[in-house]
Amino acid sequence: MQSLSCVAQSGALLASISLLLITNGVNGLVTSGLSNYSFPDNFMLGVATAAFQIEGAWNEGGKGESMWDTFLHKNPDFTLDRSNGDVAADSYHKYKQDIIMVQSLGVKYYRLSISWPRILPKGTDNYINKEGVRYYRRLFKELRKAKINPVVTLFHWDLPTPLMDLGGWSNPKMADFFVDYARVAFTLFGDLVKIWTTINEIHIHCYQGYGRDYFVPAIKFSGVADYLCSHNMLLGHAKVYHLYDKKFKPRQKGKVGLTLDAFHADPKDPTKADDREAAERYLQMTLGIYAHPIYSEKGDYPELVRERIDNMSISQGFARSRLPVFTPQEVEMVRGSSDFFGLNHYSTFLMSLSRMEDGWSVPSMDHDIGVKMEHDPTWPTPGSDWLAVYPEGFRKILNWITKQYGTKVPIIVTENGLSDFGGLNDYDRVSYYNNYMSQLLLAIHEDKCNVIGYFAWTLMDDFEWKDGFT
Ligand SMILES: *[C@@H]1O[C@H](CO)[C@@H](O)[C@H](O)[C@H]1NC(C)=O
Ligand SMILES: *[C@@H]1O[C@H](CO)[C@@H](O)[C@H](O)[C@H]1NC(C)=O
Repeated sequence: MQSLSCVAQSGALLASISLLLITNGVNGLVTSGLSNYSFPDNFMLGVATAAFQIEGAWNEGGKGESMWDTFLHKNPDFTLDRSNGDVAADSYHKYKQDIIMVQSLGVKYYRLSISWPRILPKGTDNYINKEGVRYYRRLFKELRKAKINPVVTLFHWDLPTPLMDLGGWSNPKMADFFVDYARVAFTLFGDLVKIWTTINEIHIHCYQGYGRDYFVPAIKFSGVADYLCSHNMLLGHAKVYHLYDKKFKPRQKGKVGLTLDAFHADPKDPTKADDREAAERYLQMTLGIYAHPIYSEKGDYPELVRERIDNMSISQGFARSRLPVFTPQEVEMVRGSSDFFGLNHYSTFLMSLSRMEDGWSVPSMDHDIGVKMEHDPTWPTPGSDWLAVYPEGFRKILNWITKQYGTKVPIIVTENGLSDFGGLNDYDRVSYYNNYMSQLLLAIHEDKCNVIGYFAWTLMDDFEWKDGFT
């Protein structure tokens, strides 16, 4: 789709990067490593949001409740500032201003999500909420009028509450409900939307929501429900991919992929074999577990992941593995089920092997992975403890993905960005984007990673899940 060769400098973009160069972060971030590379022609530069984090209007226009609505109304202390998504950034009413903001950034792509319960209030496809449909059609039409391409996520975590009551993604039937919802979305919006991502961040959603109680649904059945969720999401994604491929792609001519999240993992001491093993194991067990079934030649879970969870399950007294097994037909269905590799990347950790750390449950994904995660103390963390700034890690994870799965399927960076504590003098953020995008240019031009797009998270201050508006 894209030429990888170095192309003529894009004047506007280069000018803006040079401007950014002038500022240095207050936390000692130094903008360095800038090159004269520019983004290829047709590179998809954009900004991203998600429905629950910005829309508000939680009970307006015939919308049903999502599991986040229901859970936060019942548990107001769940978020740091007791906030919820009832109003959020009020995008349901202010979407025209959102579009003006995207325009003012000069980017041609806007990644957003559809709220499943806004168009299917009960989650099922027997009743479609016309007012919800009208909202999204207006939004997509206005975007296209402004020459901005919508990139639309079907599931960015706001599951309709009635479906959560059935067990959410731990229920194997959820894949079929997801297909029903996707069919409605493709039918009603497919003339306006040409790039779809099925699911946002399988790992974070299943690990934090089903394995732990950090995110809704807060099921906290670690080492079991998280893998069920992952497995059913992979199947749901693949079924939706094939639905589009067979029934919609011939006429609508769009693309379908999914978005996976990945920290980069470096060995704590690169000279130590154990630390190198820890870093590789972390990447396989948090990214390979989802990417290998889709993007590898062979399909299915990576052998290391399969064996390790099988072994640990048996030694813990389970009669069978906690990681579900794909049938041979399912392996084939999932393999190749993506037109692009969506990547959300924010930070890097240093890894060493560990049998047990404070806060781990047994069984759990943490315990199965068995690595201690640390930050280099020289990496700044301006906004969130987990978000240490290490731009080189971005280039490294793009290279890891390229090495594992090749260059045939293009990568779209669907999220990248930095949290802070507010204010308008966000030098740390300016510096972060400057340095991370420079590393992206190196990955594209020097390493020949097939990256065709980049989306900044986020267009506006939003409801940031557990962190509320802090
Ligand atoms: C970029 O190009 C300018 C002008 O050709 C040159 O002076 C500068 O050294 C180059 N910078 C890098 C990092 O290659
Ligand atoms: C799983 O157990 C088998 C048999 O004990 C062992 O040979 C293999 O190395 C183990 N695999 C992993 C990934 O731990």
